[in-house]
Amino acid sequence: MATINDNYLKLPGSYLFAEIGRRVAAYKEAHPEADIIRLGIGDVTQPLPAVCIEAMHKAVDEMAHKETFRGYGPEQGYEFLTKAILKNNYESKGIHFGTDEIFVSDGSKSDTGNIQEIFGSADKVAITDPVYPVYLDTNVMAGRTGSLKEDGHFEGVTYLPCTAENNFAPDLPKERVDMLYLCCPNNPTGTTLSREELTKWVNWAKENDTVILFDAAYAAYITEPDVPTTIYEIPGAKDVAIEFRSFSKTAGFTGTRCGYTIVPHTVTGKAADGSRVEYNKLWNRRHTTKFNGTAYIVQRGAAAIYTEEGQKQVKELVGYYLENARIIREGLTKAGLEVYGGINAPYIWLKTPNNMKSWDFFDLLLKQVNIVGTPGAGFGPCGEGYFRLTSFGNREDTLRAVERFQQLKF
Ligand code: MLT
Repeated sequence: MATINDNYLKLPGSYLFAEIGRRVAAYKEAHPEADIIRLGIGDVTQPLPAVCIEAMHKAVDEMAHKETFRGYGPEQGYEFLTKAILKNNYESKGIHFGTDEIFVSDGSKSDTGNIQEIFGSADKVAITDPVYPVYLDTNVMAGRTGSLKEDGHFEGVTYLPCTAENNFAPDLPKERVDMLYLCCPNNPTGTTLSREELTKWVNWAKENDTVILFDAAYAAYITEPDVPTTIYEIPGAKDVAIEFRSFSKTAGFTGTRCGYTIVPHTVTGKAADGSRVEYNKLWNRRHTTKFNGTAYIVQRGAAAIYTEEGQKQVKELVGYYLENARIIREGLTKAGLEVYGGINAPYIWLKTPNNMKSWDFFDLLLKQVNIVGTPGAGFGPCGEGYFRLTSFGNREDTLRAVERFQQLKF
């Protein structure tokens, strides 16, 4: 008889954003007239930059002629894209990687979820609390944790609390771990780690033979000079860190899908026979076995952001969402709420009024002013009493949402 992967049964009912979608759909069915403003899931609303559209149209035309038609491409990505990424995001900062250290994919959600497959099944995992649920859930699915405890934590996982008390900068783990997930700028808190803090983490990882899985999907939103846009700005990081980047929030590719992961040759782990093996070799094996490459048309669209005009358009797009973030931050502060983030990130993290539970605040907001946000508790127990709003809405909705917050009674 076939059996199931019992680890899946350890997980709570549904994925966070699926649960929010379900609740909003139920509310909408009961109140079809409700004018709902969605600031929940971090999904972009503005069209793709014109350079991407032009490049993709051209690529579509290429597919129409046998001389320029493309079938399978390299699983790791076309060199026109990998070289452009390395040149613009790394070489410009004096950081050098070979094209065999970068892997183009369909986005960071898949990569941050799949990366754990190349680690030992008994490896110890540390995550921040709150955290982007993908890091935790995929490790639960892989059997790297025990059961969910009453306090909302899984057995066998090291949680690093991030709250207003520690300025959302986690303390170093008290015990050693093998894999450590860091997200900067952070989803969900919208806060960042300074160069000094990140240096502390890299040094700790080196001392403890830990691999940092560094999610930099929101790097394009960094406005402050003291926040590194890549972990490889920190000396020694090439020996301990794997970095994930995405076009989703940088260039509006949430629906178009394109991201990439840097796996330096110098990041290694121990094999059963005691030898050191490059994670790069394993990730390459996984990628070529389970993935057939990101669509040529999409990669052409992604590469277009690295032209001079592309850089200008992407800057405008990110600027638009950062302006929304400012509007929300200032508007909510005026409404008497305590807010964090939104300066180097498209997320605003707010303290719920009167210590209200996150899901209670979700209901209050939906019912009283028809705004959808994301309950902090959905990102982990330390997110309880917090709430996340995204700045990825359009300007009009953002302004209307802020107005509605002024009328909120709590
Ligand atoms: C979020 O809302 O946290 C993001 O949209 C999730 C993602 O990028 O997958």
